[in-house]
Amino acid sequence: MEESNNKIVISIEGLTKSFGDNTILDGITLHLNKEENLVVLGKSGSGKSVLIKCIVGLLQHDTGSIKVGSHEITDISEEELIKVRKKIGFLFQGAALYDSMTVRENLTFALLRLKEKFTTDQVNEMIEEALENVGLPDSIDKMPSELSGGMKKRIGLARTLVVKPDIILYDEPTTGLDPITSDEISHLINDTRDKFKNASIIITHDINCVKTVADRIVMIKDGKVYKEGSLEEFTSEQDPYIKSFFK
Ligand SMILES: Nc1ncnc2c1ncn2[C@@H]1O[C@H](COP(=O)(O)OP(=O)(O)OP(=O)(O)O)[C@@H](O)[C@H]1O
Ligand SMILES: [Mg+2]
Repeated sequence: MEESNNKIVISIEGLTKSFGDNTILDGITLHLNKEENLVVLGKSGSGKSVLIKCIVGLLQHDTGSIKVGSHEITDISEEELIKVRKKIGFLFQGAALYDSMTVRENLTFALLRLKEKFTTDQVNEMIEEALENVGLPDSIDKMPSELSGGMKKRIGLARTLVVKPDIILYDEPTTGLDPITSDEISHLINDTRDKFKNASIIITHDINCVKTVADRIVMIKDGKVYKEGSLEEFTSEQDPYIKSFFK
């Protein structure tokens, strides 16, 4: 294997996905490097959420290849797929916590899904550490209804972090938050990357978030990668379609 390939944690080639006659992804090719924040931009309905749902296997793609590490996820056994999925944390659009569970129970649930044998002390320690990392150690026995939108996003992130994923997929992490809270979440995404050395894909419409987190950007249009490059390359772009995102 070439030296440069060791840096790649997810590699997608020629990915297609249609719903009936509606082609959403029409040959997407992109990769995610180790310890990188990759922002995926595209207008509403362009298939950003569909793309990351295909990566975690919540949706089955039609053709093309998705490799996580060296595993081609379409070809591996169910057992291996479970192992691969454990490496990937997914922060859903809307950060849905279980409303009838406390913060502690929400995080415990994420840990139990790993099906590893943790003692109660280990579980508590991991939960406390994850809450510490998002700056909300005192929320442990709260119900989601007692939390603000920004706090819910943080708890959603803590629930993702508690399983120590190598890769985190963020779907609109700052949507619906005020500018200050959005900025805090964007910085938390960077702090998380710096501390845990994970790679992330961040889907967002929030240009301030893009400016804070992006190591690299991929723009999707008409089911294909329209442009890939650095933040500087995007902000200095004269193409009116690209400019419209950075207004
Ligand atoms: N399960 C599904 N069945 C049928 N169509 C779907 C399904 N999921 C998504 N779609 C369609 O795929 C298209 C892309 O949806 P997707 O949610 O990926 O958009 P998006 O880029 O994430 O948009 P937004 O920025 O608004 O979140 C939409 O037209 C949507 O209606
Ligand atoms: Mg979406």
